[in-house]
Amino acid sequence: MKNHLLALEDFSREELRALIDRALQLKAERSQGMRHQQLSGRTICLLFEKPSTRTRVSFEAAMFGLGGQVTFMSTRESQLGRGEPLKDTARVLSRYVDAIVVRTFGQDVVEELARYAAVPVINALTDLHHPCQVLSDLMTVIEKKGGPENLKTVWIGDGNNMANSWIEAAAVLDFPLTLACPSGFGPDQAILEKARSRGSRPILVFEDPVEAIRDADVINVDVWASMGQEKEQAERLRQFQSYQLNSTLLAGARDNAMVLHCLPAHRGEEITEEVLEGPQSVIFDQAENKMHIHKAILEHFIAGAIQ
Ligand code: CP
Ligand code: NVA
Repeated sequence: MKNHLLALEDFSREELRALIDRALQLKAERSQGMRHQQLSGRTICLLFEKPSTRTRVSFEAAMFGLGGQVTFMSTRESQLGRGEPLKDTARVLSRYVDAIVVRTFGQDVVEELARYAAVPVINALTDLHHPCQVLSDLMTVIEKKGGPENLKTVWIGDGNNMANSWIEAAAVLDFPLTLACPSGFGPDQAILEKARSRGSRPILVFEDPVEAIRDADVINVDVWASMGQEKEQAERLRQFQSYQLNSTLLAGARDNAMVLHCLPAHRGEEITEEVLEGPQSVIFDQAENKMHIHKAILEHFIAGAIQ
């Protein structure tokens, strides 16, 4: 496996499945009361330039749950905020910690950190990708429905970082994916084309959410304005109105279709309260699974647990 986790396209089907299988095993072991210590004596640095609730705390809890230690640094409060180069930061942090978990804007930032770091760099969200999140989403799908090869998985809304990582996941794990995005808000075209040439199953992009959701087994939604797009919020609210996952739209999916949302959710915008709190929502199990997949990721990238 690669030394860094920057984007899902860098991995094979077997590697992603191994991480998910290991996360499911770690989850089962935790529920049996088993204690883990495999990262005892190891430390990670979380280097975050954007806000976070789930990713920060689930990485911290994952590291503590494996016996390790965590230091958190917001970019603003570090010397990076005063212009220290990424390449110096990467080399210095590598002398102190066993992995660097980064949340930032540009994918080029995580790439540059990885180029200079002597320890693994893990992408905890950029404008282009959210690979760890999509791994926990896939874990949730596999845990509850198996697949995803035999499922119809749908993305409704913005063609954002989450959509891009779902597209890469579909190509690597070779499952069909259908997206519905408003005109002008589609996923990254280069990622889409590369994914289509790698995978054998269709990756379809529609504008019509009603057409996209028909007979879906798994439905994903996310905020309409991502972090960093706050100024576009009002315009996006107008453009995305017909993409709200409400009970009328959800009725077009299979009766037992599963609703995923990486959170935070904006009730009344991309999803209604009724759907979010409804029987088809697995959103809080999905949030829990972030911690289990982060354990598998840290264990592997720090201690080489998966060959
Ligand atoms: N889903 C997710 O990444 O949430 P946070 O922004 O709270 O980390
Ligand atoms: N697309 C969202 C995901 C938040 C976890 C964002 O980037 O803000």
